[in-house]
Amino acid sequence: MLACTEKRTLISTVTELRAWSRTARKEGKTVGLVPTMGALHAGHASLIRAARSQCDAVAVSIFVNPTQFGPNEDFARYPRTFDADCALARAEGADVIFAPTVSEIYPDGGMTFVEVEGLGNRLDGASRPGHFRGVATVVAKLFAAAEPDLAFFGQKDAAQVAVLRRMTTDLRLATEIVVCPIAREPDGLALSSRNVYLNPAQRMQALALSRAIGAVESLVGHGQHSAAVLIEAAQAVFGAEPDLRVDYIALVDWATLRPVESAAPGTLFAVAAWVGETRLIDNTILS
Ligand code: PAJ
Repeated sequence: MLACTEKRTLISTVTELRAWSRTARKEGKTVGLVPTMGALHAGHASLIRAARSQCDAVAVSIFVNPTQFGPNEDFARYPRTFDADCALARAEGADVIFAPTVSEIYPDGGMTFVEVEGLGNRLDGASRPGHFRGVATVVAKLFAAAEPDLAFFGQKDAAQVAVLRRMTTDLRLATEIVVCPIAREPDGLALSSRNVYLNPAQRMQALALSRAIGAVESLVGHGQHSAAVLIEAAQAVFGAEPDLRVDYIALVDWATLRPVESAAPGTLFAVAAWVGETRLIDNTILS
């Protein structure tokens, strides 16, 4: 196993990352960036593979971003598996790994933040105030540092995708956002770095999220488009799991994250729920 002691491909400063990207560009290469917070799993791996197949030079960033965690959230105990992450990222084809310190990303704490108004307080942003401000800020910084042609994100965090798409449009950034499908466990649970928090009973309860998504997809497949009916069907699935606390069940326009009355192609159906202390999310883009 190649440990992170292999310095050649490990970068910790913005200046080095920018120099690497500019050198690659000068050589006529396209640059891809996969932003992560580490604790890498097969979902992250699929993003890195997508980047490898679509770009000539691939950077993976590993940075647990403090500004996207609320004061009572899991920043301190967020899983950190750095050596395994480096091995996975390299095995999937990362050319460089960018692992900065907090002060490298937020010099003197940082005073400049990116807020996507009207989107950042919807869905996860409603229950996690300030979360998307932190996400947009760090991703803007990563884009400024890596200057990627393409940046790869998972549909798993669908509201995050909406916020970041809007940010790149508003700031007229040159980076194109590529969205990759949700990687799941064989039983349907969406892969998440937070799944390690679940005990065996909670792991079973967590399946309600993908079951609710499946129930809604099946209803839409049978011609049901009413938001009220689809949301009620998901509620019924969650109702069978008394220990699970629903955060939101939403049928929204994926670009605006505003509720819609009726499902149309491209509509986002998204759920979030607490299983014990762990907040999980899942979604589907309806066809
Ligand atoms: P993190 O949770 O580490 O996720 C990094 C990327 O992996 C995100 O784009 C996320 O959507 C994607 N991902 C996570 N689980 C996935 C799955 N099951 N299938 C496919 N893709 C999956 O999202 C973040 O980090 C941060 O907010 C970040 C964008 C890095 C900014 O700090």
